[in-house]
Amino acid sequence: MGPYQAIQVSEHVYWVGAIDWRVRDFHGYSTERGSTYNAYLITGSEPILVDTVKRPFVGEMLARIGSVIDPQKIRVLLSNHSEMDHSGSLPAVIERSQPERLLASPMGVKTLAEHFELPLSPEAVPVGERLTIGDRTLFFAEARMLHWPESMFSYLVDDRLFFSQDAFGMHLSSFERFCDELSEQVIWHEAAKYYANILLPYSPMVAKAVAALPKTEIGEAELIAPDHGPIWRRDVWRIAERYAEWAVQRPTRKAVIVYDTMWESTAKMAYAIAEGLQQGGARPRLVHLTTSNRSVLATEILDAGALIVGSPTINNQLFPTLADGLSYLKGLRPKNLIGAAFGSYGWSGESPRLIESALREMKVDLVSEAQRVKYVPRARDLEACAALGVRIAEKLGEITEEEA
Ligand SMILES: Cc1cc2nc3c(=O)[nH]c(=O)nc-3n(C[C@H](O)[C@H](O)[C@H](O)COP(=O)(O)O)c2cc1C
Ligand SMILES: [Fe+2]
Ligand SMILES: [Fe+2]
Repeated sequence: MGPYQAIQVSEHVYWVGAIDWRVRDFHGYSTERGSTYNAYLITGSEPILVDTVKRPFVGEMLARIGSVIDPQKIRVLLSNHSEMDHSGSLPAVIERSQPERLLASPMGVKTLAEHFELPLSPEAVPVGERLTIGDRTLFFAEARMLHWPESMFSYLVDDRLFFSQDAFGMHLSSFERFCDELSEQVIWHEAAKYYANILLPYSPMVAKAVAALPKTEIGEAELIAPDHGPIWRRDVWRIAERYAEWAVQRPTRKAVIVYDTMWESTAKMAYAIAEGLQQGGARPRLVHLTTSNRSVLATEILDAGALIVGSPTINNQLFPTLADGLSYLKGLRPKNLIGAAFGSYGWSGESPRLIESALREMKVDLVSEAQRVKYVPRARDLEACAALGVRIAEKLGEITEEEA
């Protein structure tokens, strides 16, 4: 079976997932630290496997299960989320273990059928209620749109362990299985990046789901075990508190300048705007889209108050990385931002206008006319860019004061 070992998480639960050391592109999200697909084995008179791993990792998962019990002994499969990174090994496990039951949320039953032709029909769990399986007791709650419509939360009452599927997770490959074994800076950065790229558009539902948790028995959880990255073990509700904050997106004095450039003119404008922002008391952050992935932009926006976008005009269009970045950001539905557009051009100069219409669609409050420069910016053009930065910084000062 190979060298793989399970890691004990609580009295009756083992982590039996897979470590993806090499993944760097997770459906367009740059995962520079890799990821894990977490599956969990609940031991007892009727062993339960909670979620699975991406299909190529099924051997690793079965080997880890095999270090605890013979995989043939698994009686029940529990699927909290139908996305392939968690369901992809269901067909192989069903074939291998011949379990008696496959459990999912009522909508998960349908979504699994839309992904696979399984020899075992999925069965809906009683949402909002307990279910006894052998000598273990589980409780289920809805987690609509965290991350998909069929997502659900499950809770092992015996061990006070909350299986949160994608929620509260992060893309981070490591042997450390618990958050408290890793650097705080790393886990909060990766948790924020995950929220910004995966959950941000569903912030209203996140706020509701997080507020509802303490009203159910899941509120008694002592461990939160997500489907990616390390497990929360101490002070476990810190992550839910952060989610509640991220869901609100209260503006700060951070101003994100996102841009690209062919001959450096738009770049020079970006740097001048950044100087003005700094001088005006804001915290500028620059994201150059040829060297930074769109998911870096999303992460920077999560706690920003301003979004300033620059692009040269190329064949009457935005530079392609900006078209990508703006389309991606629009889908993430960031809130409470002010902003402006800028860019260098040669003759027709459509880009700033295209940016402005994208920003309006995102309900970004445009605080100034776009800054446009023909070909190479002169000193006075750069002064005007710096003045734009100062103006945005002042506006951010007013907004954050009102908020405080
Ligand atoms: C391939 C290419 C296509 C271009 N197409 C346009 C265009 O359609 N309209 C326009 O106003 N300028 C166009 N330009 C001119 C650039 O927008 C201009 O050189 C600008 O100063 C570049 O800014 P940058 O230094 O930030 O790349 C084009 C330039 C290149 C290299
Ligand atoms: Fe997912
Ligand atoms: Fe996932």
